[in-house]
Formats: sequence, structure tokens, C-alpha cells
Amino acid sequence: MNLVEEIKKLKKEKGALILAHLYQRPEIQEIADITGDSYFLSKKALESSSNLIVFCGVRFMAESAKILSPHKKILLPAEESRCPMADMALIDRLEDLKKEHPKAKIISYINTNLDIKAVSDVCVTSSSALKIMNNIKEEEIIFLPDRNLGEFIAEHFPNKKFILYQGFCPTHERVEPWDITELTEKHPTYEVLVHPECKKEVRDLASFIGSTSEIINYATNSPSKGFVVVTEEGVLYQMKLKNPDKEFLPLNNSMICPNMKMTNLQKLYDCLLNESNEIIIDEEMRLKAHRALENMHKLGDD
Ligand code: 13P
Ligand code: SF4
Repeated sequence: MNLVEEIKKLKKEKGALILAHLYQRPEIQEIADITGDSYFLSKKALESSSNLIVFCGVRFMAESAKILSPHKKILLPAEESRCPMADMALIDRLEDLKKEHPKAKIISYINTNLDIKAVSDVCVTSSSALKIMNNIKEEEIIFLPDRNLGEFIAEHFPNKKFILYQGFCPTHERVEPWDITELTEKHPTYEVLVHPECKKEVRDLASFIGSTSEIINYATNSPSKGFVVVTEEGVLYQMKLKNPDKEFLPLNNSMICPNMKMTNLQKLYDCLLNESNEIIIDEEMRLKAHRALENMHKLGDD
């Protein structure tokens, strides 16, 4: 059986939309209708007229699509694919922080589970965070779960007080400055592209810091011919596709998100065929969480 052809056939028959995050395997990105960063995909899931969406990513992404579009059927091909950083945000710890800082606005990264979104004022993604923060009047902010993205945002808003939850992405946290300098010493003209989930010592070496799609766009528009890529290696697929004449170097210590790689063609096929792994969420919790995501799109789009 040719899985690619079968998936295309099923997709057409069912009128399904396949979304894929930029960390997905190349063959998944290739078959998807739309690829993008987490903000873009969330927007596309909301705007799509299709009532069947297959979300190739991790659970919080598919869950966010369901929160915003409760009448659509949202499927997650790799049912077990979670984001370990999202799982680090514990509701009891957040409740304690809220008690300690009752006036603070709660801003959560979209990489959070439903219970956290339900008590958040607004969600952000790495591409929308700075824009959204410009629209936040409150001076005190509880930001969770990513301490690195939180610190990156805080650097841009020195007049605000940030209380940072101590979560992190295991894939990005592992990177050390020398992982980069061992490449830039050999390639001193190469630009260094860094995701804000990396630590400050690593961000300090960046020529550009941005979300997955911002990094790809930057490389595409830059006159430079070579880049050191400091984020999950899935982005290399689109980078090379869009820039066949440029060179992209991943770190020698490879950066792979095992959860993002759980999705493969077989799982995508099975999920589409059986319409399995549907995201089902409690309606009361969904309504509470809706506000934070709605605010994200309101404040991130204008
Ligand atoms: P982007 O918003 O840049 O796509 O990032 C999502 C993510 O999970 C990064 O680790
Ligand atoms: Fe979560 Fe990190 Fe994987 Fe992104 S790369 S989904 S933050 S574990």
C-alpha cells in the first residue's frame, strides 16, 4: 500500500485539513495542507471551513484548536505525543503564585494544558508574545511555564515585574554556548538562528531570535549563505526547500523533540481512516480556557 497516496485519497474523500508543525518529520510536512509555527496553525485551524482537522503536532496544539473550534472534529495522529514543558506547569503551583501575587496578570505560553489555560488571562506563542505584551497594561505578570521565553519577553519590558514559573523545554534547555561556538569558529560568517526557548547564554550568541517560522523567514530573506540552526531539526526541511543554495548547520548535539517525531505516515493514515484519537474536552473547562486563546488572537492580530 502506498501510504502517501492513500492519505491523499482519504483526505479528499473526507474533506479533511492536515496541519503540521514545523518540527514534524519531512514526510508529514510534505503531505500537510498547511505547515507553520504554533500561532499560525492555531489561526488556520480556527479559520478553516473544514470540520475535520488532523493536527500533526503535540497534544496542546490539537487541544488549543478544539478549545477555539468546539464543533470541529480535531484528531491527533500520535495520541501519546505530549509536550513535557506543558506538563511541567502544575495548577496547584500556579494557584499558589496567584495567591502570592493577586494583582498579577496570568500569561501562559500556548504550550500548556487545558487546566492552566482555564485560569490564564491570555496565551502567547513565541511569534506573538512581544506584540501581545505591548497590549498588556498590567505591571505585574505571572508567566508560565517557560522560564527562558519568559526571560526573553521580560528583557523587552524592563518596566514590568515578571514572576517566572521555572519550566523549560528539554530539547532547547540542553543547548550550551559551546555547542554553537564550535560551529561558528569554523564558519565565522554564518548567522546563528535561535529559538527563544533557549537559555540566555545561548540567546546572547544569536544573530536572530524567533519562532520556528520566523527563523525560516529570516534565513530566506537574509543575504547570508550559511546559518547555524539552534532549534529542533524539523525546521531544516522547510529551510532547505526554500533556500537550496544556502547551507544550514544543525548542532553536533542534535536537537530533536521525541514527542514531535511520534507522528509518522502510518499513524496519520490510521487516524484519518478511523477518525480516531479525537480530542474530547470538558465543556466547562473549554469555556474557561477559550478566553485566554481568544485574547491571544485578538491581541496578536491587530
Ligand atoms: P513555535 O511557536 O515557534 O512554533 O514553537 C512551538 C514549540 O513547541 C517550540 O518548541
Ligand atoms: Fe514541547 Fe520542546 Fe517539544 Fe516544543 S520542542 S513541543 S516545547 S518539548
